Amino acid sequence: MKEYLSAPLPFVGQKRMFASEFKKILKQYPDDAVYVDLFGGSGLLSHITKREKPDATVIYNDYDNYCKRLKNIPRTNQLLSDFRQIAAGLPRNKLIPKEVQMKIYGRIEKEEKIWGYVDYITLSSSLLFSMKYKTSLEGLKKESLYNNIRKSGYQQAGDYLDGLTVTHEDYKDVFNRYKEIPNTVFLVDPPYLSTDVGTYTMNWKLADYLDVLAILQAHPFIYFTSNKSQILELCDWMGKHPGMGNPFQNAAIATFNARMNYNAFYTDMMLYTHTV
Ligand SMILES: C[S@@+](CC[C@H](N)C(=O)[O-])C[C@H]1O[C@@H](n2cnc3c(N)ncnc32)[C@H](O)[C@@H]1O
Repeated sequence: MKEYLSAPLPFVGQKRMFASEFKKILKQYPDDAVYVDLFGGSGLLSHITKREKPDATVIYNDYDNYCKRLKNIPRTNQLLSDFRQIAAGLPRNKLIPKEVQMKIYGRIEKEEKIWGYVDYITLSSSLLFSMKYKTSLEGLKKESLYNNIRKSGYQQAGDYLDGLTVTHEDYKDVFNRYKEIPNTVFLVDPPYLSTDVGTYTMNWKLADYLDVLAILQAHPFIYFTSNKSQILELCDWMGKHPGMGNPFQNAAIATFNARMNYNAFYTDMMLYTHTV
């Protein structure tokens, strides 16, 4: 059976760079465990886990409905093939002229009308400047289109999800369902703090990023983060100051609305307390 070491379709934040290291680490975990991929994204970690441990139960929490994108590969391939015809003769990796852009938008609009679904993330990697992604036609129209159109279609990924239990829920619901089940390992690859999350289905505040840490207590886990997010530095600090609590718990607050520039505002705060 084929083992994918990268996701079949583009996905920002997929763990393909970690694929071989992840396989090595997995060897330390039981073959018959329940592996719960709480932030499944492209499903790559779930897929690799199931291939490496065929006797394991693997839950892929597909919050972004990546499965729908996989199911629509034939439609996406047809679109890309039509784009290739529309842009025939244009130089590669160069800006697509306005009149040709309009034809591409027209083809996408037609697809929306007929099928009600377009995989904008996959199309973005063929039409936008490298690493730029949009999730709607309005979003695409605000960008300049480049002729990065893939030369051939994406391979059908019929077996990619084989053996996985797929769910589409908030990670907290999935966690609550499995937290008491013995022999469960949590794969925890949340969105990273201070990192662009434009293509994900979410709107997280700092507390949401910190909530994820609660999962790590008393459960075996494999957790992913980056040095941009500073979560490890924060945890290290908290570990050195145990039981400190919230220093502002009894403080009063005064606020002042400040302006950064003509359309950006923020709130300055003064916190004060009389008691020690
Ligand atoms: C860093 S990505 C995971 C990448 C994945 N490990 C891979 O290899 O493709 C984080 C994922 O968490 C998803 N997510 C955001 N909020 C979520 C929530 N409340 N519950 C579950 N997943 C969520 C994001 O949409 C994104 O797909």
